[in-house]
Amino acid sequence: MPATVLVGTQWGDEGKGKVTDLISGEFDCVCRYQGGANAGHTVIANGHKFGLHQVPSGVMYEGVTPVIGNGCIVDPKILLEEIDMLEGQGVSCAMLKISGNAHIVMPYHMDLDGANERRLGKNLIGTTHRGVGPCYQDKDARIGLRIQDMLDEKIFRQKLEAALVEKNAILEKVYEMPTYTVDQICEEYLPYADRLKPYIVESSKLLNEMLDDGDNILFEGAQATMLDIDHGTYPFVTSSNCTAGGAITGSGVGPTNIDRVLGIAKAYLTRVGSGPFPTELAQGDEIGERLCEVGHEYGVTTGRKRRCGWYDAVVVNYAARVNGLTDLAITKLDVLGCLDTIKVCTAYECDGVRYTTVPEHQSVFYHAKPVYVEMPGWKCDISGCRNFYDLPREAKDYLDLIEQLSDVRVSIVAVGPDREQTINRHWK
Ligand code: GDP
Ligand code: IMO
Ligand code: MG
Repeated sequence: MPATVLVGTQWGDEGKGKVTDLISGEFDCVCRYQGGANAGHTVIANGHKFGLHQVPSGVMYEGVTPVIGNGCIVDPKILLEEIDMLEGQGVSCAMLKISGNAHIVMPYHMDLDGANERRLGKNLIGTTHRGVGPCYQDKDARIGLRIQDMLDEKIFRQKLEAALVEKNAILEKVYEMPTYTVDQICEEYLPYADRLKPYIVESSKLLNEMLDDGDNILFEGAQATMLDIDHGTYPFVTSSNCTAGGAITGSGVGPTNIDRVLGIAKAYLTRVGSGPFPTELAQGDEIGERLCEVGHEYGVTTGRKRRCGWYDAVVVNYAARVNGLTDLAITKLDVLGCLDTIKVCTAYECDGVRYTTVPEHQSVFYHAKPVYVEMPGWKCDISGCRNFYDLPREAKDYLDLIEQLSDVRVSIVAVGPDREQTINRHWK
């Protein structure tokens, strides 16, 4: 197993942090390949709860090299705070590596993220306000600044000056917001460079050398399939390729090295921010509120309450297709123990047509009405189960149905947030 990709199959917050942490010990390296500080991955290790934004979740293991790949964007201030927080809790970041080709989130990206959202008004995306869209926009427009640029003050100043011509004009003329000077940004950012310097590497070279030496790499996805810029519910998506393909371009490792793609799916569904969500339970719905409360469905990055709904097999089936999933990890199965009956969406209906896969046309997806099968709940606490056969029959039936509908084997089942609250069915 030279390389494995771990990817969210829904709209994020599936428990990628927990599962990454769970299996990281099997790998020599854990590499993040896209996204930035918009991610919030929870890891509970050694009795401590960590909310990780940019540092790969494999950091908890001694001997595992955490890598922030070229496909990521880095907010140096938030990253340094995260490193300090981890080191302060006794987690060493000495092995951390950051790609010199990763792009830097600048202060004007944050401003423009907020300004774009205000401009969109009621059609806002509901972003995390971490400057993600504007930073990736500059990358594509070839006016972005990269981590390696910070290492040379002359180059950093030159590129910043060129970028500011456009950014200041937009800030001032379109949004009537304060502008920036080169000196002002250099004063803040160049000291970050001094601190980040020891971590900066040519990461594609490093990762390929590790593979040549027989090391195993885990690629940790942030966000998820339905938030992917190409395959998600555009425009209500993030600005990067969260799907498994992103692991290739976001790391500089060839596709032939990947032999497993592990999809993470929550046993029900949540979404933060705007956009379609066919199986959503309406605001104030009793079951939705209970899932939110029992599952603690509040964002790690923004603290926002997550929208809750039923498991959507159409979405996970689609994720299986666009990611080439080989395995599934079902998380938060324990949370469903609070319900009398549980629904699973098996198809959509729109204008008399039945869809068993995500419709390509966004207006169909918007108006899709879920078709449900209803199953009896197990109404008990399963958080102590460590073996598939210990689960109540109703829970096993639920997992069997999920497996059948996605045509991907359920290899891991999480029954609580802690590392050990896990059932290993077929993994390893
Ligand atoms: P990520 O962004 O995909 O890493 O997920 P988040 O960390 O944003 O959200 C997942 C939340 O569920 C976190 O608070 C986890 O500690 C928690 N969690 C993960 N797996 C389980 C599980 O199986 N059961 C329960 N009850 N909580 C879980
Ligand atoms: P993890 O890695 C859930 C959502 C935002 C918004 C949209 C675009 O913890 O699963 P952005 O700030 O990226 O431009 O926002 O994407 N979003 C997430 N939702 N979990 C995340 O990360 C998310 N990262 C971004 O709410 O709808
Ligand atoms: Mg999260």
